[in-house]
Amino acid sequence: MAEAIQDLNPDTMTRSPGLTYQQLLDQDTRPVPAVLREQSPKLIPDVAVPVERYTTKAYHDLEVERLWKKVWQFACREEDIPEVGDHIRYDIAGLSFLVVRAEKGVIKAFPNACLHRGRMLKEFDGRATELRCPFHGFAWELDGCFKDLPAQWDFPHINTKKFDLPEIPVATWAGFVFINPDQNAAPFDDFIADLARHFKRWDLSKLYKMTHYARVMPCNWKIAQEAFCEAYHVNATHPQILESLGDINSQVDVYENCARVITPSVTPSPLIDRQLSDEDVLRSMMDLGVNEPVPNPQGKMPRAWMAQNSRESLRAAAGSLVDEYCDAEMVDNLDYTLFPNFHPWGAFNRVVYRFRPNGNDHRSSIMECILLAPFEGERPHAAKMLWLEPDQKWSTVYGFLGRVFDQDVFNMPKVQAGLEATYSKTLYLSRYNEAKVRWLHFKLGEWVEGQGGSQ
Ligand code: FES
Ligand SMILES: [Fe+2]
Repeated sequence: MAEAIQDLNPDTMTRSPGLTYQQLLDQDTRPVPAVLREQSPKLIPDVAVPVERYTTKAYHDLEVERLWKKVWQFACREEDIPEVGDHIRYDIAGLSFLVVRAEKGVIKAFPNACLHRGRMLKEFDGRATELRCPFHGFAWELDGCFKDLPAQWDFPHINTKKFDLPEIPVATWAGFVFINPDQNAAPFDDFIADLARHFKRWDLSKLYKMTHYARVMPCNWKIAQEAFCEAYHVNATHPQILESLGDINSQVDVYENCARVITPSVTPSPLIDRQLSDEDVLRSMMDLGVNEPVPNPQGKMPRAWMAQNSRESLRAAAGSLVDEYCDAEMVDNLDYTLFPNFHPWGAFNRVVYRFRPNGNDHRSSIMECILLAPFEGERPHAAKMLWLEPDQKWSTVYGFLGRVFDQDVFNMPKVQAGLEATYSKTLYLSRYNEAKVRWLHFKLGEWVEGQGGSQ
């Protein structure tokens, strides 16, 4: 049996020198919400993550059977299918599902397969009045009830009263639609409980999907995902932001099905061994060139000044909410993960990531980045998911954020190649900074191998 996860005492555990995240919060100019004051450090046993989790088709096949066919997973936003008849195709590994707005306020999901000879019912997202198979014309109502089939006299063996599409469980949270391929799935409310409790403060249903891009990545889905689950890599991978990011001062909290890494912004990394001025920090934070003038924070601490700037730029769209948010909520990186692959950021960070296997190719994956945004008045149309070319840079669509992604992406195929070449059988993860990666593997071990990690 694998060892259990243990609670750590935040006051006595081993951690980075420099300010803790909680000490930074003490400097906030606004009341800090309880959700940021909460700490949940865990000692996840020294799980020896086997390299074969990334390199073998056999492990991928196990993930499909024991994880993807069983787990609650983010399929789309409710706003992707706003009108009755709107449907979206959600694919995971080699599986495909159809998520349909069956009637006002009702979303249903079905395996994307005709019950006649199995053709995929819909290959494209769209709006329809029925679900009719393009091969021979079998048809179902939007709610999955059988509708008709051509030349019914030739199918006396089909009991059309029992020929509805099989339904799979659907749930919604904060404007996101989740499905579970397992018709006997455990309740969603329990699964999402910890994440939902945290996001009471930040209602993502009030935001709209401003952009949604996807790209095929030349690596296992976990390599892509784990590149976004710790800030420990910032010093080597993103050295240009080190002067304004408290990378290893991140606070890492682990719960049952979710974990978070809060990485403070507008504060220098403890790995920098020289004294930085406020100007240095702001120059880095604002991505200014060496000859560009740096704004004077007018006696304010840089974090408070940046937070105020951010409030003013969001005020038109978000209204008075910006005044309720503390400085930390305006500037820090509140990176949450719901097992296995859903990553919404808290407050106004706006980012949502999702990572999936690319079909059944265990050496490639799909990375998506969604930006959510506040809006005034009528809800704007949700952006459709657009594909980047396989070698297209994220910076072509996401500017500064995209340039940071491109540095992460640069590593990914090299991590895959290194894992294929290594003589080592396992990875070695740090205890605190990489606790989210540890937790992901602990959970994966529970789901796929029936134990936390692989001992
Ligand atoms: S496979 Fe769908 S109608 Fe024949
Ligand atoms: Fe990164």
